[in-house]
Amino acid sequence: MDLLALPTEVLVLIFLNLSVSDSLHIQSVNRLFRSLYQDSLQLQYALECQIAGVHDNPRCSLPIQYRLRMLRDRESSWDSLVPTSREDVQLPTRTSGHYDLAREHFFLGDPHPMAAKPLIPIHYERPMQPSNDQVHVSVEACGENLFLAVRISDDPSWLYVFSWQTGELKFDPIGFPNLGLVVLRHDIILNPNIRNHCLDIYYVPASSSGGPINRIARLCLPALKDDANTWDIQCRAAPNPTEDSTLPRNISASIPFVDRADCAIILLTWQIHRDDNEFVTPFSFVVHRQSILDLLPPEMEWPSLQAQTTAWDFWGPSRTCLFNNMRFAEGYITATNGQRYILHSAEPRQKSQLRLLDFNRYKIKRSLAKGSPRVQLGMQSEPLNHFFAQSETDALPFLEIVADVDRSYHGVMINDSAILGLNSAQSSSRG
Ligand SMILES: *[C@@H]1O[C@H](CO)[C@@H](O)[C@H](O)[C@H]1NC(C)=O
Ligand SMILES: *[C@@H]1O[C@H](CO)[C@@H](O)[C@H](O)[C@H]1NC(C)=O
Repeated sequence: MDLLALPTEVLVLIFLNLSVSDSLHIQSVNRLFRSLYQDSLQLQYALECQIAGVHDNPRCSLPIQYRLRMLRDRESSWDSLVPTSREDVQLPTRTSGHYDLAREHFFLGDPHPMAAKPLIPIHYERPMQPSNDQVHVSVEACGENLFLAVRISDDPSWLYVFSWQTGELKFDPIGFPNLGLVVLRHDIILNPNIRNHCLDIYYVPASSSGGPINRIARLCLPALKDDANTWDIQCRAAPNPTEDSTLPRNISASIPFVDRADCAIILLTWQIHRDDNEFVTPFSFVVHRQSILDLLPPEMEWPSLQAQTTAWDFWGPSRTCLFNNMRFAEGYITATNGQRYILHSAEPRQKSQLRLLDFNRYKIKRSLAKGSPRVQLGMQSEPLNHFFAQSETDALPFLEIVADVDRSYHGVMINDSAILGLNSAQSSSRG
């Protein structure tokens, strides 16, 4: 059949299903196909959604030309790190350095209408001493699960999995070597295991299927030098996946598109201690969520699998990026959204410099084709030598965008469309 003989509407429908590279290739095949893209907002929007790593919201009531404009505006603001607006918000009291933003001001909203028990008590093995005990938690909600990793003072940490709708504890708590926790899928979580120097991946079956939590993979981390050891690893990946659809179920019709969970990066902030130094040195370790999912054994094996250990050299060097994070630091782990990672200069008293790392492979390819100097392929190996047994050569590339800002921040956070800079002079600024 002659493709060229098909009506335009049919060609558009076919092209809507192409991958990014096929869409780009087909435009160079002939003038007809190129003009089809030039004339069709639908094709342009579908392609640009794929490149940006977002899902279109089919419930959105905005016409396609507005959605396309909003996507282009958002992407070009991020690509230049130039905000379209900035807002200063005064905080009532000094920040405590925790997630409360300001002392005694917590983010408490109304209980979720579908949560039968808006407060879920956690049973702990010993009585708490409110005056002395410090509670450390990581919490993630995804699908039916509420994952809660808890450590009280220096006790061992535990993972609790609740059904957030019923408030029931789904499994006996399992010992967790540290609190870091990332959701890979609604039923798969990742935990950096400091004791065994690896990433443990667990399958958490649905309530309806029964069965225990099962470790389905163990990925070794890069070996440290003999005199270095891990102090702590925190994790982050946002947004979280949804259970059965590509978009959150109750998404509003005013939202045009949403960042895809499968495209998002996972950030591990890895604190390493060396015997000859009293301080810990922070490293950032980045891998795409999908790269880890691709390494997992077939799904049918998960319920009863005996996890294999995968050597670092087999999985790590080409999929990950590891760098020393002394000069630029994130005060908070809320430093990634999608494939973007925001850092700020850690020099106190100075004006801040924001540094945005973008791990979007299409944007990297485009910048490389243009010969842009902003692409970093692999990191300076010098500081790594002191801590790691071998320095990486074949790391995951990223684009780097640096911008000066006229005030100093002690922490920065990021979401899909904003950077939140926290300023210890009792105000915070959003741009
Ligand atoms: C979300 O949508 C479902 C139906 O799709 C509805 O039953 C539920 O009440 C909605 N929840 C909220 C919080 O709006
Ligand atoms: C991101 O933050 C901005 C500024 O606070 C807010 O307007 C926007 O709704 C946030 N995005 C999401 C997805 O919550």
